[in-house]
Amino acid sequence: MRNNIILIGFMGAGKTSVGKHLADKIGYDFRDTDQMIEESQHQTIAHLFDSKGEKYFREMETEIMKELTNTLEGTVLSTGGGLPLKEINQTLLRQLGTVIYLSSTKETTLERVAKDGTRPILASDDIESRIEQLLKERVPIYKKAAHIVIETDDKSFEEVIQEIQKKYKEMVG
Ligand code: S3P
Repeated sequence: MRNNIILIGFMGAGKTSVGKHLADKIGYDFRDTDQMIEESQHQTIAHLFDSKGEKYFREMETEIMKELTNTLEGTVLSTGGGLPLKEINQTLLRQLGTVIYLSSTKETTLERVAKDGTRPILASDDIESRIEQLLKERVPIYKKAAHIVIETDDKSFEEVIQEIQKKYKEMVG
């Protein structure tokens, strides 16, 4: 198993914030696929969805994953919430290292992302139904792609990080 930790999960699960702190704590580098796409495209994800559409963004996600396959080492990688949906990305994710699904319920997601206008996927008059529908489609995919599942509801940052460290250690020794 390669020495990378890959965080997957729905928007608002804490992939980026947990990932940054975890990397600091264990002395790994930190990378984030959304940030890599924004840097390479010189625009925000929201702008990219507007200017080139979701399909283009999804192609970029697979490109980034292919690039990382050759280079990633000693890194915590946070991924966009839709990245595991493509089958090829699921294979690439598991090749990179230990895949950890940070799970979150609809209620938690609503609390964490409702007022955030940066996620085009959630643009809807009925954000609650939108989240419900997306979770229904995605949760089975996240579970299938992951080596480890960690529930984040009602847990502090620190608790989530500690749980990741414990389970990661159990898994890779
Ligand atoms: C998306 C999640 C976002 C970002 C894009 C699409 C999704 O990332 O990749 O807006 O389809 O769930 P976060 O999960 O980091 O918010």
